[in-house]
Order: sequence, then C-alpha cells, then structure tokens
Amino acid sequence: MTETSSSVSLEKIPRHVAIIMDGNGRWALQRGLPRLAGHRAGTENLRRVIRSTVEFGIKYLTIYAFSTENWGRPAEEVQGLLGILQDVIDRELNELHKEGVQLRHIGRLERLSANLQARVLKAINLTKNNDRLILNIAWNYGGRDEIVCAIQKIIKDGIKPEDVTDSLVGQYMFTAGVPDPDLVIRTSGELRVSNFLIWQTAYSEWYVTPTYWPDFDKEEYRRALEAFAQRDRRFGKVSSGELQESNA
Ligand code: FPP
Repeated sequence: MTETSSSVSLEKIPRHVAIIMDGNGRWALQRGLPRLAGHRAGTENLRRVIRSTVEFGIKYLTIYAFSTENWGRPAEEVQGLLGILQDVIDRELNELHKEGVQLRHIGRLERLSANLQARVLKAINLTKNNDRLILNIAWNYGGRDEIVCAIQKIIKDGIKPEDVTDSLVGQYMFTAGVPDPDLVIRTSGELRVSNFLIWQTAYSEWYVTPTYWPDFDKEEYRRALEAFAQRDRRFGKVSSGELQESNA
C-alpha cells in the first residue's frame, strides 16, 4: 500500500476537505490579545494548512472564511477581516499561483467594495488554469443563501418542476463542478454546522477537534485524515463487507 511520508494511506486520502476554521477569537482571548490578532494567527495557519493539503495530495480544499452572518460582528472586526482578505490577495497571490493553486470564491461578492471585488476576480482569473489544488474560499457565504440563490436562478431559467433533480440543483450551487466534500474538519470543538455547505455535506464525514484554529497543525491534520481513513462510508446503504457476507 502506498504511504505518504506522514503514513496516511494514499488510497484513502479524501479528494475534497472542507474546514470550519473556528476558535481564533478564543485563541486571542487566552493570550490577552485582540480578536483580530487571533484572525491574523489563523491566517498564518491557513498558509501552513494549504501547504500540507498539497503535500497530502488532496485536490480540493474549501475554507469557511466569512459567513453571511459574520457581518453582524463588531465593525472593527469586520473591517479587520476585510483587510485580511485584501492582504492575502496582495501578499500571497503570486506564491499561491506559483504553487499551482487555483483560487475560487463561493458566496456573494456584492457586499465587498468595488476595488476588493476587482482584486478577487483578478486572482480568480490569474489562477484559473492551475490544477494542483483547487482552493474554494467561502466569503460572504451562507448555505441557506446559496440554496435560495439556486432556487431563484432555477425559476429565472424557466426550468420545469419535473426537471428539477438532485444533479440539476447541484449545478446551480456556487460549488458547481466541484465534488462534494469527503471530510469536514471543524476546530474549537463546536458541534454545529453553522450554515456551511449544507447541501454539499449530506454524506460528508466529520472530524471535530477542540484545538483552536491557529494551533491546528500538520500533525493534527494527519490525525484527521487517519480518522477519515478508518471510516466506513455507506452513503445510506450497507457496507460492502456486509453485502459480501449476505450474498455468501
Ligand atoms: C472563526 O473564529 C473564524 C472566522 C470567523 C474568520 C476566519 C478567517 C480567517 C482565518 C482569515 C482567512 C482569510 C482569508 C482571506 C481566506 P471565531 O472568531 O468565531 O472564534 P471564536 O469562536 O473563538 O470567537
């Protein structure tokens, strides 16, 4: 069996990992720092996690960076997070491009300034032919909002009710063309979905750790992948082992 240097079975590596990067605020609070310092540390960690994702051979990574509900946070924090988005594009884009990362956005860009929207679109355009890692950044993203948006577009396109199928709805999601996440990782121990990819995660495996996002390192990432490799994914059916036994 092929093994990576960190001993995760390659055959069981998820194709698509989605991450709820939670706990930045508490990480900062523990250190007597402002919440924004937690988000900056979280952003640093994201750079490391992106690198590890490539090293583990994972093809798709989706990260929850800013939800439709996050606008309700104090103005200073919202402004700080928007500043981080701009910094990431300004400082990391060339490196990500060089590494073969394709950047995509899921959510609505509308509430961003025209300048920031233009930067995001430029980054998407620059990296559109890269295929080493597809990195979906969920920004101003909400799972319910995505479904509402899909229904609106389906109606606008005049699709007949009998033609609305599971696969058609998938094509109207922000994630059209991207396989559903195999594994969702949530840091900081909360047992909630928080409006993240609620359509796409119908059969995803979950890994929840109490570790705050800035401290979620490669070792812990590997543990998440090892836990995933142990799972028996049945997709509502029975396991293949059981089937073989009952047919014997
Ligand atoms: C949740 O922690 C984290 C966020 C709402 C923001 C995460 C964003 C980043 C790490 C920046 C990534 C940037 C880009 C451009 C991709 P929390 O604040 O809810 O933590 P708490 O629950 O401990 O308060």
